[in-house]
Amino acid sequence: MYDSGKIIPGLIIFVLIVTFPIWFNHGVAADPPKAELPKDKKQCVLPLSEIRPNHMKTLNQWRDEVLRTEDRSFFSVEGTMYQKSLQNACMQCHVSKKKFCDVCHTYAAVTPYCWDCHLEPVEEATKEDVN
Ligand code: HEC
Ligand code: HEC
Ligand code: HEC
Repeated sequence: MYDSGKIIPGLIIFVLIVTFPIWFNHGVAADPPKAELPKDKKQCVLPLSEIRPNHMKTLNQWRDEVLRTEDRSFFSVEGTMYQKSLQNACMQCHVSKKKFCDVCHTYAAVTPYCWDCHLEPVEEATKEDVN
């Protein structure tokens, strides 16, 4: 008869070693990066459930309204007036392109070409940039 007292624990250890990469990485590899939200604001121009998936459509809609019908109307968020504008609305609250837009876009592998023409906010230099 074989010695089940050694074979069974041996098998368990073998399975744990072989599957180590699977359970060790679980939940780590799949976590998307966190975009830095505005510290002094609570609301976006649309509810979170709409702006998150549809912000590119909002931008296109604003651009069309501004350029095709010259509708440059202002609107209010939490009592402050904003223009329909990438630079003068979105980037007034989302003050860092690098820590907000880029974080998600790099992860999702999209590179909007908007910044070829539109100005991005001047980024505050951090220690990492200087060194
Ligand atoms: C008045 C300030 C303000 C303006 C203007 C603004 N946002 Fe926001 N945005 C916020 C805040 C605050 C949040 C977080 C909202 C929340 O947690 O409910 C947010 C959330 C978002 C999110 C979701 C982020 C995430 O982690 O899921 C996206 C995408 C976004 N904004 C893009 C834009 C774009 C594009 C524009 C211009 C069309 C814009 N925002 C204009 C304040 C603003
Ligand atoms: C919460 C994550 C997230 C944040 C924050 C975010 N985006 Fe996006 N954005 C995406 C994703 C994901 C896509 C691709 C969606 C698709 O292909 O359907 C995208 C696509 C776009 C597109 C269309 C690009 C194309 O080639 O189709 C534009 C324009 C855009 N984002 C602008 C912005 C701007 C401006 C900001 C910062 C103010 C921003 N986004 C912040 C996730 C984000
Ligand atoms: C080839 C240059 C160019 C590119 C690329 C470009 N734009 Fe524009 N955009 C303009 C010009 C010029 C205006 C008109 C500015 C004005 O009259 O205020 C404008 C106006 C806009 C406006 C309305 C006014 C404002 O100040 O924001 C929005 C919104 C806009 N663009 C969004 C986008 C988005 C989103 C992208 C990327 C998907 C993009 N644009 C790419 C040149 C460009």
